[in-house]
Amino acid sequence: MVGEIKLSALREEDYGGCLVRYFERSEDARKQIGFILPPSVDDLKSTFPLGSTYKLLPSASSGDDIQGVIRAMSRPGKASPKINVRFVVEYPELIREVYPLILNLAKSERKLIITAYFIDGYEREKIETLLDIGFVKGAATVKTTCLYGKYYDTNYLYHDIENEYEESPRREYAEKGDLYPLLPVEKRKQPLKLRFRIANLDDAADIAEAISQQNTFRTLARGVYEGFMAKSDSVSYLEQGKKSGLNFPIVCIDTERNKVIAISDLGIMNDQVSRHTGHLGIHVNAQYHGLGVGTALLREIDLMARRLHLESLVLSYFEINEVAKRLYEKSGYEYRGEVPGWLSSTYVKEIFMQKMLT
Ligand SMILES: CC(C)(COP(=O)(O)OP(=O)(O)OC[C@H]1O[C@@H](n2cnc3c(N)ncnc32)[C@H](O)[C@@H]1OP(=O)(O)O)[C@@H](O)C(=O)NCCC(=O)NCCS
Repeated sequence: MVGEIKLSALREEDYGGCLVRYFERSEDARKQIGFILPPSVDDLKSTFPLGSTYKLLPSASSGDDIQGVIRAMSRPGKASPKINVRFVVEYPELIREVYPLILNLAKSERKLIITAYFIDGYEREKIETLLDIGFVKGAATVKTTCLYGKYYDTNYLYHDIENEYEESPRREYAEKGDLYPLLPVEKRKQPLKLRFRIANLDDAADIAEAISQQNTFRTLARGVYEGFMAKSDSVSYLEQGKKSGLNFPIVCIDTERNKVIAISDLGIMNDQVSRHTGHLGIHVNAQYHGLGVGTALLREIDLMARRLHLESLVLSYFEINEVAKRLYEKSGYEYRGEVPGWLSSTYVKEIFMQKMLT
């Protein structure tokens, strides 16, 4: 029952205090965030950012007896209509108890969709509790988690809360058919001589230019206005990726102009239970769309993934992105389901795909 537990905002001193102790003492809590051995304070900081993380405590408590951790993240931009929640709880029924608070938070932010993902297997009871509350299964990626040698699937669930409002937050955006219409660009002529290599800091300006072009970002999860990514943003993105050791961005170079024209960032999750699974995003400079660059880059990504001993690759795209759909299908990716909640040309679904490499 709500009232017997409370949510209390996570504070800086909790990382090295009650939070790290909670994950040290509870093997089950560790499993829920994908860790076999206790996570470091840095791991906890990246998994549970201040401002969107709450400790679950008995209502009379003021201290250390955490019964769970809830992270409720909403991001601006194309993800604005939704809020993503991560539930780490002592027992699944706690989700039911705490959910009215999460729902109130989402409604106060006028969200349309609440999303959450779980491992189908050792988190099945949590999935069932959410299905009972009103969530539905949108997508499932296969064998993406491995616990003690046994594979599990990842389930992506969502709760459409539009009916919770007296006046729906849904609006008509795309009066002229598209929020981000295609702009005229001068297309490069074939044939191209392409080269591939790992990205380095000198590529930052070319990457920022390519991704910030409207024809490129219109179908990406990031960016809502031309020029949104500056060279400095792309430097910090490359630096952070390098520091984590889990990102392998490959760039494609037009050798005649010695210019980076496309990037695909193959990454591996920080979770210890999904190190055999890669995820990726891709974008090609608008002047080079439709010339086979994306196809060639995905071939390089495959090769890199096999060298990294990965077993499958997961990605997603917006349902309106016919070119991405064809690119991924012809490159061997299979449909794994869909989840609504993005705002691109209008409200769109995110389609999940996966390619098995074994
Ligand atoms: C999606 C994207 C990566 C594809 O890369 P690309 O270099 O343009 O793709 P390719 O030229 O290799 O074409 C791949 C397939 O897509 C299809 N395609 C390409 N251009 C197309 C177009 N204008 N209309 C319809 N289909 C098209 C074709 O089926 C093609 O394969 P084929 O030539 O063998 O028939 C690129 O268009 C892009 O960066 N778009 C913006 C960012 C983005 O949407 N990224 C993916 C989001 S998850």
